[in-house]
Amino acid sequence: SWTMAAFRAQEIAKVRAQVGDGKVICGLSGGVDSSVVAVLLHEAIGDRLQCVFVDTGLMRKGEADEVVGLFRDHYNIPLIHRDASDLFLGKLDGVADPERKRKIIGATFIDVFEEEAQKIGGADFLAQGTLYPDVIESVSFTGGPSVTIKSHHNVGGLPERMNMQLVEPLRELFKDEVRALGRELGLPESFVGRHPFPGPGLAIRLPGGISKEKLEILRNADAVYLEEIRNAGLYDAIWQAFAVLLPVQSVGVMGDARTYDYVCALRAVNSTDGMTADYYPFDHEFLSRVSSRIINEVRGINRVVYDITSKPPGTIEWE
Ligand code: XMP
Repeated sequence: SWTMAAFRAQEIAKVRAQVGDGKVICGLSGGVDSSVVAVLLHEAIGDRLQCVFVDTGLMRKGEADEVVGLFRDHYNIPLIHRDASDLFLGKLDGVADPERKRKIIGATFIDVFEEEAQKIGGADFLAQGTLYPDVIESVSFTGGPSVTIKSHHNVGGLPERMNMQLVEPLRELFKDEVRALGRELGLPESFVGRHPFPGPGLAIRLPGGISKEKLEILRNADAVYLEEIRNAGLYDAIWQAFAVLLPVQSVGVMGDARTYDYVCALRAVNSTDGMTADYYPFDHEFLSRVSSRIINEVRGINRVVYDITSKPPGTIEWE
């Protein structure tokens, strides 16, 4: 019968056959798909795999350290950690339009990734975490085989520019199967079960302009929210949950002082594929707890609201 252990062995053999003595480069994002690809490839070809983690400065709290800690320190996978946060933030300065944010982040990501690949003398292959639904989707849209994934670590364009062939060991899998393979490979549950995170990261959770200060406020609020979700045992029951920092200030009162701080919107949805989604029906006690903690612990926020919009008509993200 078909098991993940058998799939793992079969894919390792396939990768070895495809790659031969070649070098493979793989972009890590902190998400499930690229993590599984990296561990599988490392098992197959050892240190002929070179991972590159482009730190956009737009990730959740502590996430960049987790990625480096797991892949470089725990798995001993050769990993370049490029902190490009100043570059990204500089280019995003004053940009409020959501689609422009995405374009800037996508283009900057490709530039930085290519620069790092050239520094190590290039590679013969590019590994990507393309899944079966991505294959189907791009076939129906383009009539051709998939060469892109839909995120900022969308390194589509790179294979042609850098003359690399693609290695895509997850092409036959659905998301839940990728998670099962990740568990089979011994990836920690904190990576395997992680909620989806958009390529443009926190940039699209800060409607309006982005600044270091706002990013820090958002990161702190998001971390409190997710911690409470985990404490309540709800993390795995929710498809995606996150905080959004609104570009609105409102008046509040703290002790005997007037405050004038930002509004934080909380979002949590259930979905099967991200195409439609229902907002998550938290009880009021949970929402009150999160609200008080955020307002007490996160400087810069004095009001918390819960988004009760489903998709459609709302999208999951606010941008
Ligand atoms: P929306 O907001 O369109 O989101 O309902 C559906 C799913 O897609 C994610 N998302 C993105 N992922 N790049 C990504 O890699 C993007 O630009 C992007 N925009 C939205 C979103 O987080 C949700 O899981």
